[in-house]
Amino acid sequence: MYGFRRTIIVMALLAVGATSVIFAQQSTPASTATYVGVTNCKMCHSDVFTSWSKKPHAHAFDLLVAMKQDKNEKCLPCHTTGYGAGGFTDVTKTPALEGVTCEACHGPGSDHNGDPNKITKTPSSAVCAKCHLKADIH
Ligand code: HEC
Ligand code: HEC
Ligand code: HEC
Ligand code: HEC
Repeated sequence: MYGFRRTIIVMALLAVGATSVIFAQQSTPASTATYVGVTNCKMCHSDVFTSWSKKPHAHAFDLLVAMKQDKNEKCLPCHTTGYGAGGFTDVTKTPALEGVTCEACHGPGSDHNGDPNKITKTPSSAVCAKCHLKADIH
């Protein structure tokens, strides 16, 4: 009797779990998107690209190179785009993900291709806090 009731409860939990997975997939279509690099964004957003390229974020990786820390995996999550999350791996394979590029704030852009519903328009301050949170990182 107890075992039977437990089976029912487990099945009910599984059903709830399955439903929430379906809802999660519907509400976040961009979660399957991958990093395409700043050269992609530049093709259609050359004005934004030009202003970004003059700001510190564009040169965040250069700081590591100058300090010979560009292979230090402790530094890469904040000085590159998407390190450890399917983005930057190394300078030869992913040069377009060096530094804090568009996708570090707007999210991976492979699904976007001009569709404004498939890219984050206004990144929240939580996005900035991932790298700017701690005062004592350096
Ligand atoms: C948690 C994220 C994070 C990590 C990890 C990180 N940095 Fe930074 N780094 C930042 C941010 C944010 C700035 C700009 C604001 C500031 O200066 O705090 C910055 C700025 C810098 C600067 C500019 C000078 C300065 O201190 O302001 C240098 C140089 C630097 N980082 C080197 C490194 C090196 C080397 C490592 C690895 C040992 C590293 N960073 C790891 C986020 C990070
Ligand atoms: C440090 C985070 C950050 C980076 C890096 C970044 N953006 Fe943004 N972007 C934002 C924020 C925040 C907004 C909304 C507020 C605003 O308009 O400034 C925005 C707004 C936009 C907009 C809509 C408004 C407008 O100005 O047209 C576009 C398009 C855009 N970004 C594209 C890009 C592209 C392309 C790059 C890379 C070349 C890039 N962004 C790099 C944070 C960022
Ligand atoms: C094939 C051209 C194309 C490419 C490539 C492209 N975009 Fe866009 N993007 C557009 C168009 C068109 C719009 C909608 C009109 C507008 O807001 O300028 C747009 C809008 C946006 C917006 C604002 C969304 C909104 O709701 O207004 C952001 C942010 C953005 N793009 C970021 C990026 C980033 C980051 C990349 C690189 C990963 C990128 N775009 C690559 C064409 C492109
Ligand atoms: C992937 C990590 C990352 C993200 C996300 C990020 N930043 Fe940064 N930011 C950095 C690093 C690293 C630097 C230092 C770059 C340099 O000095 O060349 C920096 C520099 C800056 C600076 C210049 C500071 C100075 O001392 O000149 C400002 C302002 C800034 N970030 C604001 C923001 C805002 C606002 C957001 C969110 C919309 C954001 N950042 C998102 C890593 C990040």
